[in-house]
Amino acid sequence: MEGNEPLLNIESLTVGYLTEEGILKAVKDVDLYVKSSEGVCVVGESGSGKTTLANAILGILPPNAIVLGGSIVFGGIDLLRADHRLRASILGIKISLVPQNPSSSLNPILRIEDQFCEILKHRRGVRDKRQCREIVEDLLRKTGIRDPDRVMRQYPHQLSWWYEAESSNSNGPINFPQAYSC
Ligand SMILES: Nc1ncnc2c1ncn2[C@@H]1O[C@H](COP(=O)(O)OP(=O)(O)OP(=O)(O)O)[C@@H](O)[C@H]1O
Ligand SMILES: [Mg+2]
Repeated sequence: MEGNEPLLNIESLTVGYLTEEGILKAVKDVDLYVKSSEGVCVVGESGSGKTTLANAILGILPPNAIVLGGSIVFGGIDLLRADHRLRASILGIKISLVPQNPSSSLNPILRIEDQFCEILKHRRGVRDKRQCREIVEDLLRKTGIRDPDRVMRQYPHQLSWWYEAESSNSNGPINFPQAYSC
């Protein structure tokens, strides 16, 4: 990829939802260019399509959504037209989600350490428990958690809201992605 090319290049993206009243266009003709190391804020009133846009980039649109037109090119790969294997190697690995709502993004029945290790195992092939603990500890510390040892042993409901949010935020960079969507 050339240095000047955007990391993420969205052109004329239109996404609709099939509803009982017909097709509701939630994202209309959106263009978005994001360079590497660049942060872009998408701002709009409630219902203007921000989440729909983020979900389209991440490939996690709900079943009644349809992409009506346009393209989402990441690192030179057209995500809407790439085959399943190519998409799986990018989505959740090179593009990651930093969830807005920690209480719905952490699994309530798994301790923090176990849910992070599960991701590390599947996304980065880390199977060694000790290595996994070290990575998780480091990620939690980098998000500002001063006692990661304690946090790792706890369940989400045992954490204060701030700790829960920070734990959930450190879930985003776990794969060292090239792009985040919040
Ligand atoms: N699964 C769905 N089926 C039908 N319509 C939907 C669905 N999801 C979202 N919508 C509609 O699509 C439009 C865009 O919704 P979206 O959630 O993307 O907006 P948003 O900008 O993220 O809003 P907010 O700021 O409230 O999070 C809204 O009119 C919403 O009601
Ligand atoms: Mg939203």
